[in-house]
Amino acid sequence: MSDRCPTGIPGLDEILGGGFPRARSILLAGSCGTGKTTLAIQFLVSGIVNYNEPGVLVTLEQDSDEIRRDMLKYGWDLKKLEEEKKLILIDTSLSKIGIKEYVTSLPVAPEKSFSLLPGEFDFERITDLVVASARKINAKRVVVDSLPALDVLSKNETSIRRVLLQMNYEFKVNGLNSILITEVPEEDGVSKHGVEEYVSDGVIIVKTNEALDTRTIKIRKMRITKHTLKPIALEITQQGIQVKK
Ligand SMILES: Nc1ncnc2c1ncn2[C@@H]1O[C@H](COP(=O)(O)OP(=O)(O)OP(=O)(O)O)[C@@H](O)[C@H]1O
Ligand SMILES: [Mg+2]
Repeated sequence: MSDRCPTGIPGLDEILGGGFPRARSILLAGSCGTGKTTLAIQFLVSGIVNYNEPGVLVTLEQDSDEIRRDMLKYGWDLKKLEEEKKLILIDTSLSKIGIKEYVTSLPVAPEKSFSLLPGEFDFERITDLVVASARKINAKRVVVDSLPALDVLSKNETSIRRVLLQMNYEFKVNGLNSILITEVPEEDGVSKHGVEEYVSDGVIIVKTNEALDTRTIKIRKMRITKHTLKPIALEITQQGIQVKK
């Protein structure tokens, strides 16, 4: 296996020297509607389709059925990939209370996508389930969308730092390349708590410029990688995300 993990996102691997460094964690930051979910899921889908690297998607906020529907618009059939045991969705969105049947007790992770009860929403459990699910399908990639939803679990920055360090550590020792998504206010800052960028191996920032009707992507940090610090134009089309030269 090469020491890079190709994202498969057109234009991005070129500016990353072939992809993300292997078994490292990347923080993907941006304000609302900047394309974070699209980019991260494209990374998972491309991993499966182009590189035979299965993936796990943890949705902390958005309902998994809604994500499946949204991603079909880009031509990405998550359901099919799930049926082929190449993708597992772990839905911990708290919004489904009382609406759906839950898998209430999970001694071990099942081979297929599942939802967690609100009462089961604890940080170590999520990390353990991701790792167990990844083992089931031999996943190499994981996406967590998005970290601020974990705030209900950790009340201060020290514990958020500890939580992220532990999550990153577990993912790494299990050979997983991760994208952790975070939300930042327009313009300023890289992360919500100001600690996420330090515990990640790479930081990518996506932005929109409403006045110019343009989007950019910036590699703010990428350990063991030579890269430009300039923002680069990004486009979202029906095929997903494309980074312009
Ligand atoms: N088919 C498409 N063609 C062009 N642009 C699209 C298309 N589908 C979605 N978009 C753009 O992508 C944006 C949503 O992308 P995405 O959901 O990945 O962003 P996000 O950063 O995850 O948003 P949020 O902060 O709400 O989670 C939309 O606001 C829209 O501008
Ligand atoms: Mg999103």
